[in-house]
Amino acid sequence: MSPRSTTTTTASTTASEPASEPASEPASEPATGEPITGPSAIAPTMPAAVARRYGTAEVISVENVPTPTPRKNEVLVGVAASSLNALDWHFLTGTPYFLRLIAGLRRPKRIIHGADVAGTVVAVGADVTSLRVGDRVFGESAGGGFAPYLATKADTLSGIPTGVSFEAAGSTPVAGLTALQGLRTHGAVRPGEHVLINGAAGGVGTFAVQIAKALGAEVTAVCSTRNVDMIRRLGADHVVDYTTDDFVPGGARFDVMLDNIGNRSAADCMSVLRPAGRYVAVSGPKENRLLGPVGHLIRTKFAFRRTDATFHQFTAATNQSDLAFIGNLLASGQVVPEVQRTIGLDGVADALAEIGSGHVRSKILVVPT
Ligand SMILES: NC(=O)c1ccc[n+]([C@@H]2O[C@H](COP(=O)([O-])OP(=O)(O)OC[C@H]3O[C@@H](n4cnc5c(N)ncnc54)[C@H](OP(=O)(O)O)[C@@H]3O)[C@@H](O)[C@H]2O)c1
Repeated sequence: MSPRSTTTTTASTTASEPASEPASEPASEPATGEPITGPSAIAPTMPAAVARRYGTAEVISVENVPTPTPRKNEVLVGVAASSLNALDWHFLTGTPYFLRLIAGLRRPKRIIHGADVAGTVVAVGADVTSLRVGDRVFGESAGGGFAPYLATKADTLSGIPTGVSFEAAGSTPVAGLTALQGLRTHGAVRPGEHVLINGAAGGVGTFAVQIAKALGAEVTAVCSTRNVDMIRRLGADHVVDYTTDDFVPGGARFDVMLDNIGNRSAADCMSVLRPAGRYVAVSGPKENRLLGPVGHLIRTKFAFRRTDATFHQFTAATNQSDLAFIGNLLASGQVVPEVQRTIGLDGVADALAEIGSGHVRSKILVVPT
């Protein structure tokens, strides 16, 4: 357990109402003083899960911090739900170290993590015309979701479709967008194709299994024994338990391999792909603390030049049209986020440690109020 200066709310299983007493992350940048539209009763401070230096879970504490003020192109969101991603662990630890070029060389520029956000707009910056106070929104921010209020650019958000809960919307953005862009944009998955998902039990994987099915694919998913039943329930046609089996020598051939782990050689990956198959690298080995998976990805990319199959590596980017696409999948019930548990701010440190283990199951939802 990590030390905490304040305990906050208990985890809630529902978040159907926006935060009533706003609070947000401390402004990562100074407020501009631009006129904003929104309620005047937003509290000047809020509780937040804060990390003022790089480290592991022990550097997180729940503290009162200034409520952010949205800049001209930002909105202030009353956060109903956020969720944890591997991304948050990387920004918490400042690893791989090259990440610190953007996150802050000696100390993190942003002290509240949590890129996923779902909630209600409570104030809008002067230049924002696309959103209004009261809109239900979700999206991927630059961080700050582990607090009751978050200021983020309006174009990082999209409306939550009718009938979709804050819980579902808040657990989706980073992992859902990554799975969608990996499969549809970079993997170009077509109906009837056979997709292999390596690392199916985590955040990206649990969305990928469902999105690949929604795209009409046959899905083979790789996970450990304890997650086999969950992955079957999410719709995988075939499950490979990597603790007892190996997808490489089995003889199956795939049109697309979505690799959330990067633990196999380029030769292994090429051997399971059909001609004109697509290898989509979501991640790679993390042992190199300076560069992370970069070296592995470059070697794999060059190895793929020897084959007809193609190599694709990408960094997921938030965009409103993909958010809307995945919002429709949530609304139609084709994708139902798999949430293992819901926590409050006082549970963020332990949950981040779980992410850091590399074996977290599905999604952990944060209700920060
Ligand atoms: N390119 C991008 O833009 C982008 C975006 C988001 C995430 N990522 C990266 O993609 C990776 C996956 O993200 P995530 O959010 O899904 O991570 P996560 O939620 O932390 O999931 C990790 C999962 O990996 C599984 N796993 C661990 N070792 C495995 C193995 N040898 N074979 C198969 N599965 C294994 C674990 O399941 P078991 O317990 O069953 O082992 C666990 O469920 C992370 O490295 C993340 O940094 C990249």
